[in-house]
Amino acid sequence: MDIFNKCATDAGYFGTFRVQDDCYFTRPVLDPIPGSRMLFNGKPVIQWSINNYMGLAENEEIMAHAAEAVKRYGTSAPMGSRMMTGNTDRHMELEQQLADYLGKESSVLFNFGYLGVTGTIQSLVDAKDTILMDKLSHASMVDGARLSAGDYRVFRHNDMNSLETHLKRVNRNRKGGILIITEGVFGMQGDLGDLAGVCALKEQYGARLFVDDAHGFGVMGEKGRGTAFQLGVQDKVDVLFGTFSKAFAAIGGFSATDKCVADWIRYNARTQVFTKSLPMIYVEVILKTLEIIRDNGEERRCRMMANAVKLKQGLLDLGYSVGNGPSPITPVYVPAGDMQAGARIVRSLRDLGIFITGVMWPVVPKGMILFRMIPTASHTDEEIQLTIAAFRTVRDQLKLKMDASLDEK
Ligand SMILES: Cc1ncc(COP(=O)(O)O)c(C=O)c1O
Repeated sequence: MDIFNKCATDAGYFGTFRVQDDCYFTRPVLDPIPGSRMLFNGKPVIQWSINNYMGLAENEEIMAHAAEAVKRYGTSAPMGSRMMTGNTDRHMELEQQLADYLGKESSVLFNFGYLGVTGTIQSLVDAKDTILMDKLSHASMVDGARLSAGDYRVFRHNDMNSLETHLKRVNRNRKGGILIITEGVFGMQGDLGDLAGVCALKEQYGARLFVDDAHGFGVMGEKGRGTAFQLGVQDKVDVLFGTFSKAFAAIGGFSATDKCVADWIRYNARTQVFTKSLPMIYVEVILKTLEIIRDNGEERRCRMMANAVKLKQGLLDLGYSVGNGPSPITPVYVPAGDMQAGARIVRSLRDLGIFITGVMWPVVPKGMILFRMIPTASHTDEEIQLTIAAFRTVRDQLKLKMDASLDEK
């Protein structure tokens, strides 16, 4: 048996698309300059699929700052890992500013959010420890749990009874610590983690809590401090994780926590110890972006939220099944989870100049297909109205059965 045999089949993630050499539903080719209007296959479209929540991807002040940083540091700096030759006072300054912003003692930078989640979990969880993870946790958390030496179990999404059942079971024969893992804003469906409920249980059962707030950091709460801040439990979350690839429109991530825990992660997270440190360009860009989001972000944040409300309401009025959570994420569920219908809707909307992306397993549970739309501070009223009109046209042209539930598939 040759390990390459499978490569010639349609197995694996998105296999049916891969064998067709798809560049439409998966890997669509887009003009890389981000914004609410982009070019797709050379044609202008209104873009609803990028995580540019605060509309900062196209911000000229940040771009000028980045150009200055390149002039000053070049593209290679710093050379080496943080442990050896890649640490600078600017990296440490950024870590302290992030910690202060979130009311934590310290923070640890990572080159990618994915590496931050995996590395943080791996470094904290030893062989006798147990991870209890929300069922809808992002793949990076699943991979962090697999990378760790500990055992992991999954509780039903946002279900505190399910979490408590697991806590009781683990406690019956407890040999080590327990790390509960959940999200602030759940990235696909836009609902919030029940952080108050999780915090109460983690205190009752002597566990620790890691919250991945990739989609809430910079977006939710006063000054964009995140979902836990908005829900009033910031001080109870043991490790807060945020990424710079979404509201910050950059790259990288961090974990913020107590100083001794941060130092432990710094010295033990394999995904950062054994790799080159975050480039200076991004350190400078993130410092600048933090200043904008923290000190000057309120107007953008209000615009983004108002845009989300308008988009959600417009689509609900047309009869679409739309997740109406408190975050800007706008999931539109494909009637009956029907893949063919989903593909037809994507094509029809793109033909009308509206770019959306279908999301299916393994990103969401099997049997579910949704369009994850991201309203941003950059979208205009006109773009929202054009989008709602296009959804109306598609509903009527395709004669969509709007009330078909997932179970009718
Ligand atoms: C919830 C969540 N955690 C972590 C990540 C990984 O972040 P990054 O893209 O910065 O590596 C993502 C990105 O999709 C995410 O949605």
